[in-house]
Amino acid sequence: MEKGKVVLAFSGGLDTSICIPLLREHYGFDEIVTVAVDVGQPEADITRATEKGQKLADKHYTIDAREKFVTDYVFPSIKANGSYEGYPMGTALARPLIAEEIVKVAQKEGASKIAHGCTGRGNDQLRFDFIFRSAGYDIIAPMREMNLTREWEICYAQEHNVPVTVAKDKPYSIDENFWSRSIEGGNLEDPAFHPPEEIYAWTVSPKDAPDAMEEVRIEFEQGVPVALNGKRLPGIALIEELNLIAGRNGVGRNDMIEDRVLGLKARENYEHPAATVLLAAHRDLEHLVLTRSELAFKHIVDDKWSELAYMGLVHEPLFYALNAFIDKTQERASGFVDVGLYKGSLRVLGRSSDLALYSDDLVSFDSTTIDQNHAVGFSNYFGLQARLFQNLKKR
Ligand code: ARG
Repeated sequence: MEKGKVVLAFSGGLDTSICIPLLREHYGFDEIVTVAVDVGQPEADITRATEKGQKLADKHYTIDAREKFVTDYVFPSIKANGSYEGYPMGTALARPLIAEEIVKVAQKEGASKIAHGCTGRGNDQLRFDFIFRSAGYDIIAPMREMNLTREWEICYAQEHNVPVTVAKDKPYSIDENFWSRSIEGGNLEDPAFHPPEEIYAWTVSPKDAPDAMEEVRIEFEQGVPVALNGKRLPGIALIEELNLIAGRNGVGRNDMIEDRVLGLKARENYEHPAATVLLAAHRDLEHLVLTRSELAFKHIVDDKWSELAYMGLVHEPLFYALNAFIDKTQERASGFVDVGLYKGSLRVLGRSSDLALYSDDLVSFDSTTIDQNHAVGFSNYFGLQARLFQNLKKR
């Protein structure tokens, strides 16, 4: 049996709630400290976690990491056009930050171990473990180690006076912060099952969205969104407002088959209205300001960045190096993009930048700045080797 103090990553949900009696009874810890980290979950979830932690654990911390989440994780992800198989990675981006805040508490509290409620099937266990192990902590993961089922957990909770909030008719596992809302479990586990309207909280059904297109203007400075419709806003406020605007137009629903790190394929449903708009606008702006070779190379960099971010390997040296490259390119990613939102779809309507590599004088049908005859010489050599190859075949 273990002795001493353990710090538990705490959300107030069923898994982490029953971890408290389990850590006492099954593992034998005599002091349990719960930590809830606020990365923009619904306020009610944070309140629930705080109240439950205070009631059930020996000591509880709620840490506000929202600002840090936007500045250190969401903004870099926009710069990297962060997307894993089409998922903007809200959950993935938040995990390293949550883990790091928990490590700080563990150090302050002089805890011997860190516990979390992740199962042995998902990605979160890997993202958390990586940070905890990097900080030198041993990990306790009761759900994974004891191979627990939901049903057993609910019984155990009832026996231990742990309030259960999972409703039988809505058995979804939801993870939410302001970058994305993920909905898993229940009948959604059948990939052929059509998602019912009740799983959505941020977006209206496209068929109920307004019949007129709504336009938004996003202004970027060095790859980071700084203003919405001409109003300068701090990151959190900008994302929250854009979630509302795009959500009411039905933009940002995502139903996909996702390849988890372990190799399992999972059916995932997401809502991420603001992320959908910001990523589309940012990508478009890059096409205006970056060179063709920068764009092609950055595509590869962005993909690799996203893969590492998805895995939570944010302290992999390659991740630092990719960030350095990305930041260099973003020095010129300033300007605005106008986006039209209409019944679940999105279209870039226009873009502008003082740093555009675009010259209407050169490209215009109406301009004589370029002497078109100069293209003849270029064209003489164009595709030369392919032409020589085709000639071989004629012999
Ligand atoms: N599949 C996503 C990821 O690995 C989302 C996981 C959401 N977690 C949850 N408990 N609903 O990042």
